[in-house]
Amino acid sequence: MQHAEQINVAKRLLQLVETTSTELADAAYSQSVDEYTSSEVAAREQQVFFREQPLCVGLSHDLPAPGTYQTHDLSGVPILLVRDLTGAFKAFLNVCRHRGAQVATGCGEARGFTCPYHAWVYGLNGALLSRPDEASFAALAREDFGLTALPASERHGMLWVCPTPGPVFDLEQWLGPLDSELSGYKLEGFHHYTSRDLTRRMNWKLVVDTFLESYHFAVLHRDSIASIFYQNLATFDAYSQHFRLVSPRKSVTQLSQKIETEWQLLPHVVAIYVLFPGTVIVWQGEQIELWQIYPGSTPDEARFRVSLYTPTPADSEKARRHWDRNLELVLHVVENEDFPVGERIQQGFHCAAQTHTVFGRNEPALTHYHREITATLARAG
Ligand code: FES
Ligand SMILES: [Fe+2]
Repeated sequence: MQHAEQINVAKRLLQLVETTSTELADAAYSQSVDEYTSSEVAAREQQVFFREQPLCVGLSHDLPAPGTYQTHDLSGVPILLVRDLTGAFKAFLNVCRHRGAQVATGCGEARGFTCPYHAWVYGLNGALLSRPDEASFAALAREDFGLTALPASERHGMLWVCPTPGPVFDLEQWLGPLDSELSGYKLEGFHHYTSRDLTRRMNWKLVVDTFLESYHFAVLHRDSIASIFYQNLATFDAYSQHFRLVSPRKSVTQLSQKIETEWQLLPHVVAIYVLFPGTVIVWQGEQIELWQIYPGSTPDEARFRVSLYTPTPADSEKARRHWDRNLELVLHVVENEDFPVGERIQQGFHCAAQTHTVFGRNEPALTHYHREITATLARAG
């Protein structure tokens, strides 16, 4: 976040603290529960959000050197992420062009990929380099059987892929007004510490919803983080379909004792960005959490990955203890407090209690998010 914007947000937060208020939506909003339970909606979401749009599949440091690779299956499409020998980011369908086996598993460093089934060999650029018993395939030109490339782009330290082959997307346009703000975080300098994959019995949007208000802090999180943060108090800014929510720590009032030019906002807040629709970036303290949130096999299931990135490499026991503790606190709060409630909400959506759930004026991020989901699906027909 650029310094001028930090000052802008800090002023708004101090004002909210002084008036014990929060930034408001224009009106309360009713959200149909069908959007969390319907198989038909889920199928449309899968196509529109998770096949046709760019997806953030990680940060640059996930592929730290030429020749490193990683497989990515969260979207349901087997994707192979590669940093080629020139350092360029590439993505392919992780599907062998012989009989369809996956040519790579997990992550690591490689000069190329040898299919585990019959040993066709592909280069880091996806080209088919060799195949045993070449004569039996002589009629099928090797250059026609490279791995299928996917549109891939690296921008501001983030890795983006569209899981359907096609033209390269315009990421600057996709990020819109958020593009310059994200550039200010210098994400390319952050180091991957660790990732955890989770599956929960709740719709994927309920996982995103978890991050979108601080109205619940004093109740649900009374024994964990409630003492650190102001509750029901946040700024909200929409950037086209994406948006930002900033919740202050109690320490934010220390800023008023300093002159504005010295204000550093990030130590005093948690800043949450939603890159529409399923990427959540959480800045708190010095660390970044990247949440990649996807639908599971039914509308009642979410599959997601949280990755922790640190500003310096965790190269000492002390540093690792520090980052481990931070991650454990995050996971403790969401896994023991937020997600159990989310799973019970999902159960309740299937009974006759209500056709709609409601977001108050104090929950503007939820309103914006679900309006955009509904409108985008409607536009897509
Ligand atoms: S399926 Fe890959 S070499 Fe046969
Ligand atoms: Fe929460």
